[in-house]
Amino acid sequence: MSVKIAHPAASHGISLQGRITVPGDKSISHRSLILGALSVGESTIHGLLEGADVLATARALRAFGAEISRGINGVWHINGVGVGGLMAPSDILDLGNSGTGARLLLGLAATHGITSVFTGDASLRQRPMERVITPLQQMGARFEASGGGRLPITVIGTNRALPIEYRLPVASAQIKSAVLLAGLNAPGCTAVIEPRPSRDHTEHLLRHFGAEVTIGNDGDGARRITLTGRPELQPQTVRVPGDPSSAAFPIAAALLVPGSEVAVTGVGLNPLRAALLDTLRDMGAQITEHNRRQDQGEPIADLIVRAGPLRGIEVPSERAPAMIDEYPILAAVAAFASGRTVMRGISELRVKESDRISAMANGLGALGVQVEELADGLIVHGHDGAAPIRNCVSINTEMDHRIAMSFLVYGLAAQGPVRVTGCEMIDTSFPGFVELMTGLGARIEDAP
Ligand code: S3P
Repeated sequence: MSVKIAHPAASHGISLQGRITVPGDKSISHRSLILGALSVGESTIHGLLEGADVLATARALRAFGAEISRGINGVWHINGVGVGGLMAPSDILDLGNSGTGARLLLGLAATHGITSVFTGDASLRQRPMERVITPLQQMGARFEASGGGRLPITVIGTNRALPIEYRLPVASAQIKSAVLLAGLNAPGCTAVIEPRPSRDHTEHLLRHFGAEVTIGNDGDGARRITLTGRPELQPQTVRVPGDPSSAAFPIAAALLVPGSEVAVTGVGLNPLRAALLDTLRDMGAQITEHNRRQDQGEPIADLIVRAGPLRGIEVPSERAPAMIDEYPILAAVAAFASGRTVMRGISELRVKESDRISAMANGLGALGVQVEELADGLIVHGHDGAAPIRNCVSINTEMDHRIAMSFLVYGLAAQGPVRVTGCEMIDTSFPGFVELMTGLGARIEDAP
Protein backbone atom coordinates (compact mmCIF):
# COMPACT_ATOMS: atom_id res chain seq x y z
CA MET A 1 0.00 0.00 0.00
CA SER A 2 1.24 3.51 -0.78
CA VAL A 3 1.60 5.60 2.37
CA LYS A 4 2.56 9.27 2.15
CA ILE A 5 3.41 12.02 4.59
CA ALA A 6 2.32 15.61 3.97
CA HIS A 7 4.54 18.14 5.76
CA PRO A 8 3.26 21.49 6.94
CA ALA A 9 4.48 24.14 4.54
CA ALA A 10 4.62 26.93 7.12
CA SER A 11 7.11 25.11 9.35
CA HIS A 12 9.54 25.20 6.39
CA GLY A 13 8.76 28.84 5.73
CA ILE A 14 7.03 27.91 2.48
CA SER A 15 3.82 29.05 0.87
CA LEU A 16 2.23 27.57 -2.25
CA GLN A 17 2.84 29.58 -5.40
CA GLY A 18 2.33 28.96 -9.09
CA ARG A 19 0.03 28.32 -11.99
CA ILE A 20 -1.37 24.85 -12.64
CA THR A 21 -3.88 23.00 -14.78
CA VAL A 22 -5.67 20.01 -13.29
CA PRO A 23 -6.46 16.85 -15.32
CA GLY A 24 -9.62 16.54 -17.38
CA ASP A 25 -13.08 16.19 -15.91
CA LYS A 26 -13.81 12.60 -14.91
CA SER A 27 -17.56 12.72 -15.63
CA ILE A 28 -17.07 14.28 -19.08
CA SER A 29 -14.24 11.86 -19.89
CA HIS A 30 -16.36 8.74 -19.23
CA ARG A 31 -19.26 10.13 -21.23
CA SER A 32 -17.12 11.26 -24.20
CA LEU A 33 -15.66 7.78 -24.56
CA ILE A 34 -19.10 6.18 -24.30
CA LEU A 35 -20.76 8.45 -26.87
CA GLY A 36 -17.74 8.14 -29.17
CA ALA A 37 -18.17 4.38 -28.97
CA LEU A 38 -21.83 4.75 -30.00
CA SER A 39 -21.11 6.92 -33.06
CA VAL A 40 -20.15 5.53 -36.45
CA GLY A 41 -16.80 7.02 -37.49
CA GLU A 42 -13.92 8.57 -35.62
CA SER A 43 -14.33 10.87 -32.63
CA THR A 44 -11.38 12.61 -30.97
CA ILE A 45 -11.05 13.64 -27.35
CA HIS A 46 -8.62 16.31 -26.17
CA GLY A 47 -7.71 16.47 -22.51
CA LEU A 48 -9.22 13.10 -21.56
CA LEU A 49 -8.58 12.23 -17.92
CA GLU A 50 -6.09 9.36 -18.02
CA GLY A 51 -6.98 8.14 -14.54
CA ALA A 52 -7.62 4.51 -13.69
CA ASP A 53 -11.43 4.96 -13.62
CA VAL A 54 -11.65 6.35 -17.14
CA LEU A 55 -9.12 3.84 -18.48
CA ALA A 56 -11.34 1.06 -17.11
CA THR A 57 -14.28 2.48 -19.09
CA ALA A 58 -12.11 2.62 -22.22
CA ARG A 59 -11.15 -1.04 -21.74
CA ALA A 60 -14.78 -2.07 -21.31
CA LEU A 61 -15.82 -0.16 -24.44
CA ARG A 62 -13.09 -1.96 -26.42
CA ALA A 63 -14.56 -5.23 -25.19
CA PHE A 64 -17.93 -4.04 -26.57
CA GLY A 65 -16.30 -3.58 -29.98
CA ALA A 66 -15.15 0.07 -30.13
CA GLU A 67 -11.63 0.88 -31.30
CA ILE A 68 -9.96 3.24 -28.88
CA SER A 69 -6.38 4.47 -29.02
CA ARG A 70 -4.23 7.24 -27.62
CA GLY A 71 -2.25 9.30 -30.12
CA ILE A 72 1.33 10.32 -29.33
CA ASN A 73 0.12 13.89 -28.73
CA GLY A 74 -2.23 12.71 -25.96
CA VAL A 75 -5.35 13.00 -28.13
CA TRP A 76 -7.65 9.97 -27.94
CA HIS A 77 -9.29 8.46 -31.03
CA ILE A 78 -12.46 6.36 -30.93
CA ASN A 79 -14.01 4.47 -33.78
CA GLY A 80 -17.50 3.64 -32.62
CA VAL A 81 -19.90 0.85 -33.48
CA GLY A 82 -23.13 2.91 -33.59
CA VAL A 83 -26.21 2.78 -31.38
CA GLY A 84 -27.37 -0.84 -31.30
CA GLY A 85 -24.00 -2.12 -32.49
CA LEU A 86 -22.33 -3.29 -29.27
CA MET A 87 -20.81 -6.79 -29.38
CA ALA A 88 -20.97 -9.27 -26.51
CA PRO A 89 -17.71 -9.01 -24.54
CA SER A 90 -15.73 -12.24 -24.47
CA ASP A 91 -14.57 -11.69 -20.90
CA ILE A 92 -15.76 -10.23 -17.60
CA LEU A 93 -15.72 -6.41 -17.53
CA ASP A 94 -13.75 -5.10 -14.56
CA LEU A 95 -14.60 -1.46 -13.83
CA GLY A 96 -12.09 -1.24 -10.99
CA ASN A 97 -13.07 1.51 -8.54
CA SER A 98 -15.43 3.33 -10.88
CA GLY A 99 -19.07 3.67 -9.90
CA THR A 100 -19.68 5.99 -12.85
CA GLY A 101 -18.16 3.57 -15.36
CA ALA A 102 -20.10 0.62 -13.95
CA ARG A 103 -23.49 2.34 -13.75
CA LEU A 104 -23.32 4.09 -17.12
CA LEU A 105 -22.16 0.95 -18.92
CA LEU A 106 -24.84 -1.17 -17.23
CA GLY A 107 -27.30 1.24 -18.85
CA LEU A 108 -25.67 0.82 -22.23
CA ALA A 109 -25.51 -2.97 -22.06
CA ALA A 110 -29.13 -3.26 -20.86
CA THR A 111 -30.64 -2.28 -24.22
CA HIS A 112 -28.37 -4.26 -26.49
CA GLY A 113 -29.30 -7.91 -27.10
CA ILE A 114 -26.07 -9.20 -25.55
CA THR A 115 -25.03 -10.75 -22.27
CA SER A 116 -22.20 -9.15 -20.29
CA VAL A 117 -20.75 -9.62 -16.82
CA PHE A 118 -19.61 -6.64 -14.73
CA THR A 119 -17.40 -6.60 -11.67
CA GLY A 120 -15.10 -4.19 -9.83
CA ASP A 121 -12.70 -3.83 -6.93
CA ALA A 122 -13.64 -4.51 -3.30
CA SER A 123 -15.06 -0.99 -2.86
CA LEU A 124 -17.16 -1.07 -6.03
CA ARG A 125 -18.50 -4.54 -5.19
CA GLN A 126 -19.97 -3.02 -2.01
CA ARG A 127 -21.78 -0.18 -3.75
CA PRO A 128 -25.53 -0.23 -4.50
CA MET A 129 -26.44 -1.09 -8.09
CA GLU A 130 -30.15 -1.70 -7.45
CA ARG A 131 -30.65 2.00 -8.18
CA VAL A 132 -29.84 1.41 -11.86
CA ILE A 133 -31.14 -2.17 -12.05
CA THR A 134 -34.71 -1.06 -11.15
CA PRO A 135 -35.28 1.28 -14.11
CA LEU A 136 -33.28 -0.88 -16.52
CA GLN A 137 -35.48 -3.88 -15.67
CA GLN A 138 -38.50 -1.75 -16.50
CA MET A 139 -36.94 -1.25 -19.93
CA GLY A 140 -36.79 -5.03 -20.40
CA ALA A 141 -33.27 -6.05 -19.36
CA ARG A 142 -32.65 -8.93 -16.95
CA PHE A 143 -30.03 -8.96 -14.21
CA GLU A 144 -28.38 -11.59 -12.06
CA ALA A 145 -26.81 -9.63 -9.24
CA SER A 146 -24.88 -10.63 -6.14
CA GLY A 147 -26.52 -10.20 -2.72
CA GLY A 148 -28.22 -6.85 -2.19
CA GLY A 149 -28.00 -5.86 -5.87
CA ARG A 150 -24.21 -5.68 -5.87
CA LEU A 151 -21.49 -6.52 -8.41
CA PRO A 152 -20.61 -8.97 -9.90
CA ILE A 153 -23.69 -8.61 -12.09
CA THR A 154 -24.69 -10.42 -15.27
CA VAL A 155 -26.78 -8.27 -17.61
CA ILE A 156 -28.97 -10.00 -20.14
CA GLY A 157 -29.73 -7.09 -22.42
CA THR A 158 -32.75 -6.68 -24.67
CA ASN A 159 -33.00 -5.70 -28.31
CA ARG A 160 -36.62 -4.76 -27.75
CA ALA A 161 -36.25 -2.12 -25.09
CA LEU A 162 -39.27 -0.22 -23.87
CA PRO A 163 -38.89 3.52 -23.47
CA ILE A 164 -39.83 4.54 -19.93
CA GLU A 165 -40.53 7.61 -17.89
CA TYR A 166 -38.52 7.35 -14.70
CA ARG A 167 -38.59 9.57 -11.62
CA LEU A 168 -35.26 9.42 -9.80
CA PRO A 169 -35.54 8.44 -6.14
CA VAL A 170 -32.28 10.33 -5.37
CA ALA A 171 -30.54 13.20 -7.17
CA SER A 172 -28.00 11.09 -9.05
CA ALA A 173 -26.42 11.86 -12.39
CA GLN A 174 -25.30 8.26 -12.62
CA ILE A 175 -28.84 6.86 -12.47
CA LYS A 176 -30.10 9.56 -14.83
CA SER A 177 -27.30 8.79 -17.28
CA ALA A 178 -27.77 5.02 -17.09
CA VAL A 179 -31.44 5.43 -18.08
CA LEU A 180 -30.70 7.95 -20.85
CA LEU A 181 -27.91 5.82 -22.30
CA ALA A 182 -30.23 2.81 -22.23
CA GLY A 183 -32.88 4.97 -23.92
CA LEU A 184 -30.54 5.55 -26.86
CA ASN A 185 -31.41 2.08 -28.13
CA ALA A 186 -35.12 2.16 -27.29
CA PRO A 187 -37.76 3.34 -29.78
CA GLY A 188 -39.70 6.50 -28.92
CA CYS A 189 -38.96 8.82 -26.03
CA THR A 190 -37.28 7.96 -22.74
CA ALA A 191 -37.80 10.52 -19.99
CA VAL A 192 -36.09 11.02 -16.65
CA ILE A 193 -37.53 13.30 -14.00
CA GLU A 194 -35.09 14.52 -11.39
CA PRO A 195 -36.47 16.15 -8.26
CA ARG A 196 -33.27 18.19 -7.91
CA PRO A 197 -30.97 18.86 -10.84
CA SER A 198 -27.79 16.79 -10.93
CA ARG A 199 -24.77 17.33 -13.20
CA ASP A 200 -25.96 17.60 -16.81
CA HIS A 201 -22.89 16.55 -18.80
CA THR A 202 -24.76 13.60 -20.30
CA GLU A 203 -27.46 15.90 -21.67
CA HIS A 204 -24.83 18.32 -23.08
CA LEU A 205 -22.81 15.57 -24.72
CA LEU A 206 -25.82 13.70 -26.10
CA ARG A 207 -26.76 16.89 -27.93
CA HIS A 208 -23.15 17.43 -29.00
CA PHE A 209 -23.16 13.98 -30.63
CA GLY A 210 -26.45 14.74 -32.39
CA ALA A 211 -29.16 13.22 -30.18
CA GLU A 212 -32.42 15.05 -29.57
CA VAL A 213 -32.74 15.96 -25.90
CA THR A 214 -35.31 18.32 -24.44
CA ILE A 215 -35.26 19.68 -20.92
CA GLY A 216 -38.32 21.07 -19.21
CA ASN A 217 -39.65 21.90 -15.78
CA ASP A 218 -41.73 19.36 -13.93
CA GLY A 219 -42.94 21.59 -11.09
CA ASP A 220 -41.33 22.18 -7.70
CA GLY A 221 -37.85 22.65 -9.16
CA ALA A 222 -37.91 19.19 -10.78
CA ARG A 223 -36.49 18.74 -14.28
CA ARG A 224 -37.74 16.45 -17.03
CA ILE A 225 -35.14 15.28 -19.53
CA THR A 226 -36.53 13.62 -22.65
CA LEU A 227 -34.43 11.74 -25.17
CA THR A 228 -35.61 10.61 -28.59
CA GLY A 229 -34.37 7.05 -29.04
CA ARG A 230 -32.40 5.41 -31.85
CA PRO A 231 -30.55 8.50 -33.09
CA GLU A 232 -27.69 8.18 -35.50
CA LEU A 233 -24.94 9.66 -33.40
CA GLN A 234 -22.28 11.58 -35.33
CA PRO A 235 -18.59 11.38 -34.41
CA GLN A 236 -17.34 14.54 -32.74
CA THR A 237 -14.36 16.32 -31.28
CA VAL A 238 -14.59 16.81 -27.51
CA ARG A 239 -12.42 19.15 -25.46
CA VAL A 240 -12.56 18.10 -21.81
CA PRO A 241 -12.27 20.97 -19.28
CA GLY A 242 -10.28 20.69 -16.04
CA ASP A 243 -12.16 18.76 -13.36
CA PRO A 244 -13.58 21.10 -10.68
CA SER A 245 -13.65 18.16 -8.26
CA SER A 246 -9.88 17.74 -8.70
CA ALA A 247 -9.23 21.50 -8.68
CA ALA A 248 -10.87 21.55 -5.23
CA PHE A 249 -7.70 20.08 -3.64
CA PRO A 250 -5.08 22.61 -4.80
CA ILE A 251 -7.67 25.36 -4.25
CA ALA A 252 -8.16 24.23 -0.64
CA ALA A 253 -4.40 23.94 -0.08
CA ALA A 254 -3.86 27.47 -1.43
CA LEU A 255 -6.56 28.83 0.89
CA LEU A 256 -5.10 27.13 3.96
CA VAL A 257 -1.32 27.54 3.63
CA PRO A 258 -0.56 31.11 4.77
CA GLY A 259 0.85 33.44 2.12
CA SER A 260 -0.15 31.22 -0.83
CA GLU A 261 -1.32 32.42 -4.21
CA VAL A 262 -2.17 29.83 -6.84
CA ALA A 263 -3.78 30.09 -10.27
CA VAL A 264 -5.72 27.08 -11.55
CA THR A 265 -6.41 27.46 -15.26
CA GLY A 266 -9.16 25.98 -17.44
CA VAL A 267 -11.43 24.74 -14.66
CA GLY A 268 -14.90 23.54 -15.68
CA LEU A 269 -17.49 25.62 -13.83
CA ASN A 270 -20.74 23.98 -14.80
CA PRO A 271 -23.22 25.44 -12.26
CA LEU A 272 -24.27 21.89 -11.32
CA ARG A 273 -20.67 21.17 -10.29
CA ALA A 274 -19.29 24.42 -8.92
CA ALA A 275 -21.12 24.92 -5.61
CA LEU A 276 -17.96 24.33 -3.57
CA LEU A 277 -16.70 27.72 -4.80
CA ASP A 278 -19.90 29.41 -3.53
CA THR A 279 -19.49 27.66 -0.20
CA LEU A 280 -15.83 28.60 0.15
CA ARG A 281 -16.64 32.20 -0.74
CA ASP A 282 -19.40 32.19 1.89
CA MET A 283 -16.66 31.13 4.33
CA GLY A 284 -14.61 34.18 3.32
CA ALA A 285 -12.32 32.61 0.70
CA GLN A 286 -10.60 34.86 -1.80
CA ILE A 287 -11.16 33.14 -5.13
CA THR A 288 -11.41 35.24 -8.26
CA GLU A 289 -12.45 34.14 -11.74
CA HIS A 290 -10.70 35.28 -14.89
CA ASN A 291 -11.14 34.73 -18.60
CA ARG A 292 -14.58 33.13 -18.24
CA ARG A 293 -15.51 31.38 -21.47
CA GLN A 294 -17.91 28.80 -22.82
CA ASP A 295 -16.63 25.71 -24.60
CA GLN A 296 -18.99 23.12 -26.08
CA GLY A 297 -21.73 24.16 -23.68
CA GLU A 298 -19.54 24.03 -20.56
CA PRO A 299 -18.47 27.24 -18.76
CA ILE A 300 -14.74 27.39 -18.01
CA ALA A 301 -12.55 29.93 -16.18
CA ASP A 302 -9.13 30.45 -14.64
CA LEU A 303 -9.23 30.81 -10.86
CA ILE A 304 -6.85 32.73 -8.65
CA VAL A 305 -6.85 31.65 -5.03
CA ARG A 306 -5.24 33.55 -2.15
CA ALA A 307 -4.78 32.26 1.37
CA GLY A 308 -6.76 33.93 4.14
CA PRO A 309 -8.84 33.30 7.22
CA LEU A 310 -12.08 31.34 6.84
CA ARG A 311 -15.21 31.17 9.00
CA GLY A 312 -17.49 28.18 9.50
CA ILE A 313 -20.96 28.27 7.95
CA GLU A 314 -24.07 26.15 7.60
CA VAL A 315 -23.86 24.77 4.07
CA PRO A 316 -27.30 24.99 2.41
CA SER A 317 -28.34 21.37 1.88
CA GLU A 318 -29.86 22.14 -1.53
CA ARG A 319 -26.30 22.69 -2.74
CA ALA A 320 -25.40 19.06 -2.09
CA PRO A 321 -25.87 17.64 -5.61
CA ALA A 322 -23.67 20.41 -7.07
CA MET A 323 -20.75 19.73 -4.72
CA ILE A 324 -21.35 16.12 -3.70
CA ASP A 325 -17.77 14.97 -4.25
CA GLU A 326 -16.31 18.03 -2.49
CA TYR A 327 -17.59 17.42 1.06
CA PRO A 328 -14.47 15.51 2.15
CA ILE A 329 -12.14 18.39 1.26
CA LEU A 330 -14.66 20.88 2.66
CA ALA A 331 -14.61 18.98 5.96
CA ALA A 332 -10.81 19.22 6.01
CA VAL A 333 -10.96 22.96 5.24
CA ALA A 334 -13.60 23.46 7.95
CA ALA A 335 -11.12 22.23 10.57
CA PHE A 336 -9.07 25.41 9.86
CA ALA A 337 -12.01 27.83 9.88
CA SER A 338 -13.26 29.75 12.90
CA GLY A 339 -16.48 28.34 14.34
CA ARG A 340 -18.62 25.43 13.23
CA THR A 341 -19.27 24.21 9.72
CA VAL A 342 -22.51 22.27 9.42
CA MET A 343 -23.03 19.94 6.47
CA ARG A 344 -26.40 18.23 6.16
CA GLY A 345 -28.46 16.42 3.54
CA ILE A 346 -25.47 14.39 2.37
CA SER A 347 -26.44 10.80 3.20
CA GLU A 348 -25.44 9.86 -0.39
CA LEU A 349 -21.85 10.30 0.82
CA ARG A 350 -22.24 7.05 2.73
CA VAL A 351 -22.41 5.05 -0.53
CA LYS A 352 -19.49 6.59 -2.41
CA GLU A 353 -16.05 4.94 -2.84
CA SER A 354 -16.16 4.72 0.96
CA ASP A 355 -18.60 5.92 3.61
CA ARG A 356 -17.19 9.42 3.33
CA ILE A 357 -19.07 10.83 6.33
CA SER A 358 -17.50 8.21 8.61
CA ALA A 359 -14.11 8.35 6.92
CA MET A 360 -13.84 12.13 7.44
CA ALA A 361 -15.30 12.01 10.96
CA ASN A 362 -12.87 9.25 11.97
CA GLY A 363 -9.81 10.81 10.34
CA LEU A 364 -10.44 14.32 11.65
CA GLY A 365 -11.35 12.91 15.07
CA ALA A 366 -8.08 10.92 15.17
CA LEU A 367 -6.15 14.14 14.51
CA GLY A 368 -7.87 15.89 17.42
CA VAL A 369 -10.56 17.88 15.58
CA GLN A 370 -13.94 17.94 17.27
CA VAL A 371 -16.48 16.46 14.85
CA GLU A 372 -20.07 15.33 15.17
CA GLU A 373 -21.17 12.59 12.81
CA LEU A 374 -24.86 12.78 11.88
CA ALA A 375 -26.91 10.21 9.99
CA ASP A 376 -27.00 12.53 6.99
CA GLY A 377 -24.16 14.92 7.68
CA LEU A 378 -21.18 16.17 9.60
CA ILE A 379 -20.42 19.09 11.90
CA VAL A 380 -16.79 20.21 12.13
CA HIS A 381 -15.63 22.54 14.89
CA GLY A 382 -12.89 24.72 13.41
CA HIS A 383 -9.55 25.58 15.02
CA ASP A 384 -9.14 29.04 13.54
CA GLY A 385 -6.09 28.37 11.38
CA ALA A 386 -4.42 26.04 13.85
CA ALA A 387 -5.88 22.62 13.07
CA PRO A 388 -4.33 19.99 15.30
CA ILE A 389 -2.41 16.80 14.62
CA ARG A 390 -1.61 13.87 16.84
CA ASN A 391 1.81 12.36 16.34
CA CYS A 392 1.94 8.76 15.14
CA VAL A 393 -1.61 8.89 13.80
CA SER A 394 -1.94 7.26 10.41
CA ILE A 395 -5.09 8.26 8.54
CA ASN A 396 -7.03 5.32 7.20
CA THR A 397 -8.48 6.55 3.93
CA GLU A 398 -10.59 3.42 3.36
CA MET A 399 -8.84 3.20 -0.05
CA ASP A 400 -10.79 6.29 -1.18
CA HIS A 401 -8.98 8.76 -3.47
CA ARG A 402 -10.80 11.84 -2.25
CA ILE A 403 -10.28 11.01 1.41
CA ALA A 404 -6.55 10.51 0.74
CA MET A 405 -6.19 13.88 -1.03
CA SER A 406 -8.25 15.65 1.65
CA PHE A 407 -5.90 14.53 4.44
CA LEU A 408 -2.76 15.26 2.43
CA VAL A 409 -4.04 18.83 1.99
CA TYR A 410 -4.82 18.94 5.72
CA GLY A 411 -1.22 17.93 6.44
CA LEU A 412 0.18 20.74 4.29
CA ALA A 413 -1.51 23.30 6.53
CA ALA A 414 -1.59 21.57 9.94
CA GLN A 415 0.66 21.93 12.98
CA GLY A 416 2.75 18.92 12.03
CA PRO A 417 3.07 16.18 9.39
CA VAL A 418 0.14 13.88 8.61
CA ARG A 419 0.59 10.27 7.50
CA VAL A 420 -1.98 9.00 4.97
CA THR A 421 -2.55 5.42 3.80
CA GLY A 422 -3.99 4.15 0.50
CA CYS A 423 -2.52 6.95 -1.61
CA GLU A 424 -2.31 4.72 -4.69
CA MET A 425 -6.07 5.29 -5.09
CA ILE A 426 -5.41 8.95 -5.99
CA ASP A 427 -4.60 7.71 -9.51
CA THR A 428 -8.25 6.82 -10.08
CA SER A 429 -9.19 10.48 -10.50
CA PHE A 430 -6.07 12.66 -10.22
CA PRO A 431 -2.93 11.12 -11.70
CA GLY A 432 0.04 13.38 -10.97
CA PHE A 433 -1.56 14.95 -7.87
CA VAL A 434 1.55 14.69 -5.71
CA GLU A 435 3.86 16.02 -8.45
CA LEU A 436 1.50 18.92 -9.16
CA MET A 437 1.33 19.88 -5.47
CA THR A 438 5.11 19.51 -5.16
CA GLY A 439 5.48 21.90 -8.10
CA LEU A 440 3.60 24.50 -6.05
CA GLY A 441 6.08 24.08 -3.19
CA ALA A 442 4.33 21.38 -1.14
CA ARG A 443 6.30 18.60 0.54
CA ILE A 444 4.54 15.25 0.21
CA GLU A 445 6.84 12.25 0.56
CA ASP A 446 6.63 8.48 0.58
CA ALA A 447 6.47 7.24 4.14
CA PRO A 448 9.28 4.90 5.18
C1 S3P B 1 -20.94 11.23 -11.15
C2 S3P B 1 -22.04 11.46 -10.36
C3 S3P B 1 -21.97 11.51 -8.89
C4 S3P B 1 -20.54 11.67 -8.39
C5 S3P B 1 -19.57 10.80 -9.12
C6 S3P B 1 -19.59 11.09 -10.60
C7 S3P B 1 -21.14 11.16 -12.60
O1 S3P B 1 -22.51 10.32 -8.38
O2 S3P B 1 -20.47 11.41 -7.01
O3 S3P B 1 -18.26 10.99 -8.64
O4 S3P B 1 -20.15 11.26 -13.37
O5 S3P B 1 -22.29 11.00 -13.04
P1 S3P B 1 -24.09 10.10 -8.19
O6 S3P B 1 -24.72 10.19 -9.51
O7 S3P B 1 -24.24 8.71 -7.63
O8 S3P B 1 -24.52 11.16 -7.24
